[in-house]
Amino acid sequence: MLISIITLLIINVFVYQTVKSSLLKNEENNILNQANIISDIIVNVLDDKNITLNSIDLNSKLERTSQRFDGRILIINPEKEVIYDSFHNLKGIITNQSEAVNALKGEVTSNEYILEQDKNTLYTGVPIVYNNEIYGSVLISTSLLDQYTEINSVKYSIILISIMVLILIALMTIQTANSISEPIKKLTEAMQNAAYGKLNEKVFIPGNDEISQLAKSYNFMNTKLSEIEKQRREFVSNVSHELKTPLSSMKLLSESLLIQPNVDVDIYKDFLKDIDSEIDRLNKIIESLLSMVDIDEEKLNLDYKLTYVNYLVEKVINSITPIADKKNINITLKQIDKIQIYIDQEKIYRALTNIIHNAVKYTESEGKVEVSLFKKGQHAIIKISDNGIGIKEENIPYIFERFYRVDEARSRKTGGSGLGLAISQQIISLHQGSIEVESKVKEGTTFYIKLPIQYILGDKD
Ligand SMILES: Nc1ncnc2c1ncn2[C@@H]1O[C@H](COP(=O)(O)OP(=O)(O)OP(=O)(O)O)[C@@H](O)[C@H]1O
Ligand SMILES: [Mg+2]
Repeated sequence: MLISIITLLIINVFVYQTVKSSLLKNEENNILNQANIISDIIVNVLDDKNITLNSIDLNSKLERTSQRFDGRILIINPEKEVIYDSFHNLKGIITNQSEAVNALKGEVTSNEYILEQDKNTLYTGVPIVYNNEIYGSVLISTSLLDQYTEINSVKYSIILISIMVLILIALMTIQTANSISEPIKKLTEAMQNAAYGKLNEKVFIPGNDEISQLAKSYNFMNTKLSEIEKQRREFVSNVSHELKTPLSSMKLLSESLLIQPNVDVDIYKDFLKDIDSEIDRLNKIIESLLSMVDIDEEKLNLDYKLTYVNYLVEKVINSITPIADKKNINITLKQIDKIQIYIDQEKIYRALTNIIHNAVKYTESEGKVEVSLFKKGQHAIIKISDNGIGIKEENIPYIFERFYRVDEARSRKTGGSGLGLAISQQIISLHQGSIEVESKVKEGTTFYIKLPIQYILGDKD
């Protein structure tokens, strides 16, 4: 608004000044022409008669001109005496009007005066020159009333137009300001509500401008936040549930011991053994949970080291072999290529342990687990297959979820919290890799861990 007002003001002053000076200049030139015509009329007489100015009958010569002319004509002789006045009442007086005096010196001048009765008046004086001699001067005074009336009418028009333009600009400014501030207000309100937990509130701002884009992004962010919040709630309830189960059985065991009088030491030992294994289970869950939180936090600074994956796989197999031996399960290394890639050794070790341990855990005694490592395109593939219980097709999509355990696994009382695969997948995705599963119930399961191979400078292999 301020910029518009200043601009309008500058334009107004400029237009007004231009119109005014052009109108006045025009009138000045016009009067100057008239004065020169009158001067010429007199010079013609001087030429004819070869006489002085005083002896000319100016009345008869200038009568017609002064009648037609809308102003006062004075003829002044070199003695500054008025020898002709078209209004007849100044004849004979001596004048010192500067334009007349200047004209007697040969100068043409024109000046504007503000006289009381006639307001703006223009005085113009030109010399009467004949044979390079100044014979007198012509002084014309004209009212500038018409010009000023016109100038004023232009001024009022400009003011009127300006006021209209300003009103229009004001309306547009208010409209624009509203169209910007209203959606921002809406967004602000929604954000404040979201801060107090109302994440479902969506903001609808029509159009395709920056603010409606912002609203769309805000809604998208809100949806994501709601999902995260939902997952968090689910996670907390799952954790509570998982922690509660061993606690309840411990409570049950200890209570039953306390209620019974004179319990045998062997029974005590038995019950305490159960309590101890429940404590182990609790510990395992808590360890897994903590490691998951750790991995989440360490996301951005994985400790990448150039590693021979084949050695790592062998190390994992060696650590699991005793467990497999207990179940008489044979773990074999079917194919092992020498592959060197950048990985966080400790984390990949953990993921591999989880998956190979699962293979042993979910395979009946006398079963078989086969592990291979090979290159395929840009990836190192670790394949782990077992001929165990398998997973039903409809359960496969859920096995990577936190706390998910297939019913069979639960009923079989294989210890576990359902966090192993969730952690493994988290680790592999952090390495830009992926895990794929193929499984058939009662036939077995195959896991493929794909890790990208980064080409190492100087490696010609
Ligand atoms: N090789 C496999 N064969 C059959 N079922 C499997 C196999 N690996 C995983 N599963 C199924 O997927 C579920 C999830 O596995 P996950 O490793 O996440 O949990 P868990 O082994 O039960 O417990 P945790 O690993 O935390 O001790 C298992 O409970 C089991 O039902
Ligand atoms: Mg597991």
